[in-house]
Amino acid sequence: MFGPLLQYEQKEQSIILGYEERTAIIQVVTDKVINVFVPFVSKDHRSKAIEGDKQLPVSFTLAKGSGCLILTTESLICKIYDNFVIDFYDRDGVLLCADYRGQRTPRFQLDESALELLKKEGHDINMAGNGNYPVQCVKKLDAHDCIYGLGDKTGVLNKRCYEYENWNSDIPDPHEDSFKSLYKSVPFFITLKENGVYGIFYDNTFKSYFNFGKENDGYYCFGSDDGNLDYFFIGGKDMPEVVQNYTYLTGRMPLPQKWALGYHQSRWGYDSEETFRGLADSFRKHRIPCDALHFDIDYMDHYKVFTWNKERFSDARTLLSDLKKQGFKAVTILDPGVKVEKDYPIYEEGIANDYYAKSPDGRVYVNAVWPGDAVYPDFGSPNVRKWWGEHLRFYTDLGVGGIWNDMNEPASFNGPLPDDIVFTDEGRPSTHAEMHNVYGHNMARAAYEGWQNLTGKRPFVITRACYSGSQKYTTVWTGDNQSLWTHLRMAIPQQCNLGLSGIAFIGADIGGFGADTTPELLTRWIEAGCFSPLFRNHCAKGCMNQEPWLFGEETLAIYRKYVELRYSLLPYFYDLCRECELTGLPLIRPLVLHYENDINVRNLNDEFLAGEHLLVAPVIEQGAVKRMVYLPEGTWYDYWTHEEYQGSQYHIVDAPLDTCPIFVKAGTILPKAPAQMYVGEIEDPALILDVYPGTGSYKHYQDNGEDFAYRSGAYNEYLFRTDGTRNLEITKLHKGYKEYPEIVVNYI
Ligand code: GLC
Repeated sequence: MFGPLLQYEQKEQSIILGYEERTAIIQVVTDKVINVFVPFVSKDHRSKAIEGDKQLPVSFTLAKGSGCLILTTESLICKIYDNFVIDFYDRDGVLLCADYRGQRTPRFQLDESALELLKKEGHDINMAGNGNYPVQCVKKLDAHDCIYGLGDKTGVLNKRCYEYENWNSDIPDPHEDSFKSLYKSVPFFITLKENGVYGIFYDNTFKSYFNFGKENDGYYCFGSDDGNLDYFFIGGKDMPEVVQNYTYLTGRMPLPQKWALGYHQSRWGYDSEETFRGLADSFRKHRIPCDALHFDIDYMDHYKVFTWNKERFSDARTLLSDLKKQGFKAVTILDPGVKVEKDYPIYEEGIANDYYAKSPDGRVYVNAVWPGDAVYPDFGSPNVRKWWGEHLRFYTDLGVGGIWNDMNEPASFNGPLPDDIVFTDEGRPSTHAEMHNVYGHNMARAAYEGWQNLTGKRPFVITRACYSGSQKYTTVWTGDNQSLWTHLRMAIPQQCNLGLSGIAFIGADIGGFGADTTPELLTRWIEAGCFSPLFRNHCAKGCMNQEPWLFGEETLAIYRKYVELRYSLLPYFYDLCRECELTGLPLIRPLVLHYENDINVRNLNDEFLAGEHLLVAPVIEQGAVKRMVYLPEGTWYDYWTHEEYQGSQYHIVDAPLDTCPIFVKAGTILPKAPAQMYVGEIEDPALILDVYPGTGSYKHYQDNGEDFAYRSGAYNEYLFRTDGTRNLEITKLHKGYKEYPEIVVNYI
């Protein structure tokens, strides 16, 4: 396909490679990030994930080797051969990532007659495409390679041996391990090797395919239906550095408002002013901390976006202002589908300005969502994003605290949108095939930018569909899970992989969205879920209500214990957000992120870290009251009893219904807050520091938790150090915000 390399030319940090049959380009983006680009359809990159010029000035050398060109940066060596075969090495010459040279040999292939036969009984073979894609890349797999990332895909943490597709899909059926795709497209994965690690970001928005050794154990493959071959090889000395380099490229979660880390209550079916007033009173009466109440589609008039149902919410402004007095923020859902209805202002305005996607014949394209016939705002156009963002004034004026974007795969009830529906990619006409996977991304961008312009505060946006880089604008949830033990389990690797893929502010619906929860399931779910950055209980219309006081005293008491635990840990979570903004490291982390050399954690699906200091081993089996916990190297302390445990081994620990096993690493200085019913209830809370035995240091961050003043220096940063004696050292690294009234130190 490429032929021999006939000539090459260096242009600044790019090498233009003249192969006999086509041109390819290698760009040194940073010392550790190299872009591989074959302009099949366009000369420009067309990235939606990467904003601005990320190229850093880097010195590198280019030399002729035997049968190859050798590009050497301070950290990487890249050898480029005929036929555009490329290998990446670290600076010590360890081969990290090699293009596969052999013939592709699928383990098995099905002929037409076998497929026909299988179909007769309704078996869906569900292969990710046919294995051969118009744009593709095949790379060598070594025996012990593990693969992580790829966003919200279901199944286990280590994706090796599985295949996936990126095509944002609204799937209300119970999510299964075998699903190829779900709501999000995050074409980034990390390959952990016996002696090294690297990431690949395949920046192509068309339907894409990832076969991580299912086809053959000796290679993996990624490809897509169309577009350019455009991927980034991402190096780093360890997994955290690879995540850091990937998020340098695609962006990092900006610091959220602090209340967004509090507890959120939601239900599809909270459909009146009385319901919300009742909810607010019940939370306060039962002393369950809560910061946000979510308004699902029931608040709208006939599911028309930018409207309120006046019969059921006669005075939304007063309702929201009363809720605010009780310490609640309102978060309203907003779907992209705009109802087709004469004289409905948003619909008419969008039609008049040509803001909706069209069929190739020029007519506005109509499908159906909740309101019935609906049209799709063309969020790839900057004008449409601006228009939509300005209309958010409808919500901000009423005092709404955040926006929840849903159905933005985009969902369509009258069959899929045809590939050739015309959408815009910034200034250029494009197609649904190219813009589908970034529809949610662009909608989130519209919401983030609009909200920021309107309020000056840090926008709180949630989205169901997204693409790489959406973390700059939005938090995400994992969509319509169900009240199933398997789904409680699944949420752990799912959130760990989302985090490794740069998407750090994440959560799964606590209690489960579809189907009916049980007191035990809800209890175990709040125990695990209180560590998810997005901490929301949400369920579907028609399913059992999931407010914690509906399941008896025991459930209520345990529920309260874990929501209180979350509120006490808010300074820690907020520090993790700050760390994420600076480094891209997620809040919820698989153990392998920090202990990559420990083979016991490479396939660990049922434990996770919250930051580097807390290890959480939730109970995810019905009836279990003990569980096996693997602790990695070092000394650990039981959070509840302070009992000491040694790492690098398995332990069987007690986990009665009210106990989620949590372990704290020796030397941890854990920042905590006094009890509050909502963020801001105490105007200036004290800081509590739990200091665990051992030596350690910890950076703590403090600001007003609301706006962007911190970017001009309005924050405090502290460094705490413990040497194991009861003598905590406190240093102020930055002073730009008011002091804590008190710092209380507890030696554990
Ligand atoms: C979708 C969302 C769900 C929401 C429902 C109604 O199914 O995923 O969270 O409650 O739509 O808006």
